[in-house]
Formats: sequence, C-alpha cells, structure tokens
Amino acid sequence: MSIMNIEVLAGGKRYRFQSEAGTSLKDCLLKAGILEGAECGGRGICGKCAVKVRSGTLAPVEGDESFLMTRGDGKVLACQSLIREDVVIEISAGRDDVRRKVRLPNLQKEKKYSDSLLEKKFIQLSKPSLRDQASDLERILAQVGKNKKVAFSLLGGLPEIVRKADFEVTAVLVEDELIAVEPGDTHALRYGFILDIGTTTIAVYLVDLLSGEVLDADGTANPQRV
Ligand code: FES
Repeated sequence: MSIMNIEVLAGGKRYRFQSEAGTSLKDCLLKAGILEGAECGGRGICGKCAVKVRSGTLAPVEGDESFLMTRGDGKVLACQSLIREDVVIEISAGRDDVRRKVRLPNLQKEKKYSDSLLEKKFIQLSKPSLRDQASDLERILAQVGKNKKVAFSLLGGLPEIVRKADFEVTAVLVEDELIAVEPGDTHALRYGFILDIGTTTIAVYLVDLLSGEVLDADGTANPQRV
C-alpha cells in the first residue's frame, strides 16, 4: 500500500492530507470537506469537480488520459482521476465559493405573509401603591387575559422594562402565550421571518407582518446539497 501526499489550494487556504494510491481524487476531496460540488455524482458530466494540477500527475479512472481533461483549460475532473503520486492541486470552486450569495426568487407582497399568529397590544398600567401591590405581571395579565401562558424568560427583565417605559408597554402574544413585553407603543411594528430550506438553497426573508411586504432577503447555497 503506497501512501501519497495531497496538497490542495482552495479559497486562499492550503490543505495537506494523505491518501492511498488508486483512490479517487473526488472521494479524497469530499472526505476532507474541501470539494462540495459533485452534482452529477461523479459521472464526468457536470464539471463541478474540476481542479487544476499544479504538480504531479493523476491516473484516469477509465485508462483514457484525455477523459481527465476539461475544455483544454488545464483542469482535470477529480471524479475521473485516481491518485498515483504526490500531487499539488488548486480548486477555484472550494468550500468558500459554495457559501456564495445565491440568486433568490422574488417574493411578492401577498396577504398571506401578514396572516400571522402574532398579536400586539399597547397597554397603560396603573402604578403600584400601598393600596395596590399587584406585581407587574399581574397588571399586564389583567389587561391581556389572566389565563395566558407566560414565557419564563421575560420575567427577569420585566420590572426594568415597565419602569423605564413609565408603565406604558406593548404586550406581544402568540396565540395564548405572552412571549414578550416591549417598552412603549410598538403595536404597529410587527416583523417576521420566512425561512425557506431547499435542497440547493437556504433563503430567509424579513417580512412586515402588517403590510405583508418583503423588506429584505438573503440566502446561501445549502452546504448539504452534495
Ligand atoms: S462530479 Fe460531475 S464532473 Fe465530476
């Protein structure tokens, strides 16, 4: 068993590892997490596994050296190449490129985006006194419904929020749960995310839940697409 040294330049980084002679270069690169584009499954069709050989040579899978080459640009297909000696290769479509920005489909302003379970209610609370020693939470629940569930995480900061806002706050509810209390009147500010996890693309859209307008969008290639 001969062990060969593989050096890979990709995305401005240098990777070094070893592999047995006779191993597929594509399998080495996938295992090392460097190559992520092998969309045709290694049949030599998509060209996504093209690499440039800086030094050393590779053996062709089928015994035909010409099948290694792509478009005469000095690149070879990793899926059609076997390790036979120490090599240095360069990849331009490496891990960093796979995380590139992707073209996102335009989401139109649609009513369904504003059909959300989120509710906001602006409330003015009475201030505690010797005669009225109800807790902040009790005062809020008295206005939004005593039977609401309460997110435990909001209790710690509640006294400070209520006092800084001079007892004028906005209760944020999702169905029968109070999930947040915001200082002041924020009932007209309602934002949500639409998260679209596809096999090739992950996209996220920031949506105004009142108007249904898509305010911003961003996305990336899904790193699991291989
Ligand atoms: S994986 Fe498609 S050409 Fe190599």
